Amino acid sequence: MATQSEQPKGELAVRTLAMPADTNPNGDIFGGWVLSQMDIAGAIIAGKEAKGRTVTVQVETMTFHRPVHVGDVLCCYVEVIKIGNTSLKLKIEAWAMRNFDPDRVKVTEGIFTYVAIDENRKPRPIIKS
Ligand SMILES: CC(C)(COP(=O)(O)OP(=O)(O)OC[C@H]1O[C@@H](n2cnc3c(N)ncnc32)[C@H](O)[C@@H]1OP(=O)(O)O)[C@@H](O)C(=O)NCCC(=O)NCCS
Repeated sequence: MATQSEQPKGELAVRTLAMPADTNPNGDIFGGWVLSQMDIAGAIIAGKEAKGRTVTVQVETMTFHRPVHVGDVLCCYVEVIKIGNTSLKLKIEAWAMRNFDPDRVKVTEGIFTYVAIDENRKPRPIIKS
């Protein structure tokens, strides 16, 4: 769980609004929607780092710290942990801004791995800049 002084780590890759259509039967935001936003954020940074097409190959850890509510602004931050031969490991955090309060709450975090692929969907080496 985030401490009060903790700040988001990494690059802001996705910022979006949690809508009523994304709720579960309890009225909170469906966990799969949050995971999907994190995966999109990771894909944006993976594509940038790999300079081309990538696919998600693994979600190593995924922790839901707090619920997300309708109207929250969800911000996904991505930090590159490791660049391998063809794969990238990313730490992705999602933070929520609630009730127009600028203080954000860390709601989820996870470790995602992406693989750079070529036109035949086969792994291709990542050229490090
Ligand atoms: C990703 C994919 C192309 C990898 O193909 P592959 O033949 O298994 O690749 P390799 O065994 O050569 O491994 C390639 C890299 O991926 C990594 N990798 C493969 N499977 C992995 C796994 N389960 N977890 C973490 N890393 C993995 C390897 O460590 C390697 O990394 P490195 O080159 O940096 O050392 C293939 O598994 C695939 O297409 N998967 C489906 C991806 C997809 O559709 N994602 C969308 C989700 S619905």
